[in-house]
Amino acid sequence: MIRTEADADKRAKFLLTSVIIAVVITAAYMFYEKMIAEYVPRADPDNAQQVNRGRQVYFALCAECHGMKLEGQENWQAMLPEGGRRGPPHDETGHTWHHPDQVLFDITKQGGQPFSPAGYKNNMPGFGDRLSDQDIWAVIAFIKSRWPDEIREKQDAINRRAGN
Ligand code: HEC
Repeated sequence: MIRTEADADKRAKFLLTSVIIAVVITAAYMFYEKMIAEYVPRADPDNAQQVNRGRQVYFALCAECHGMKLEGQENWQAMLPEGGRRGPPHDETGHTWHHPDQVLFDITKQGGQPFSPAGYKNNMPGFGDRLSDQDIWAVIAFIKSRWPDEIREKQDAINRRAGN
């Protein structure tokens, strides 16, 4: 094969293009790896230390209304004569896992009232004056740690959709 200058030029261009593509792919991959490595949910049910802290918080402040087994209070769906409802379950039978983490955090911190329709009496108290943000994330991590895998996966998808 006779090498012309044009051939050599083509080769050089091809090589350069390949190198650029390789660099871009490597950079994108490294960025993706870093993102995955850095993504830790603020309420992490696989973090034993956080879950232990959350367990203490739960039994000290939440269990009286949400149940020792997260089962909620009896007849929690019924409206009370004085308005509102009793404590609902936080286990897989309840509604809690239908919310992204940030909503659970906000309700725990501020109470249920600001998130309720006008005229509805919400009996969920806010804990912002008693619990640090860290403790609130911890109690949510504990609640999440009690859900079966398939519920956790569904709630993970809800978190992703909410950008959590
Ligand atoms: C005095 C009783 C009481 C205590 C104590 C209490 N809750 Fe509640 N909580 C409720 C009630 C009642 C509701 C349901 C309010 C409604 O929607 O009518 C609720 C709802 C919630 C919800 C929203 C669930 C959903 O699906 O919308 C979260 C999250 C929650 N509580 C977390 C906690 C956490 C965490 C603690 C402890 C730090 C706690 N609660 C302590 C009574 C209580």
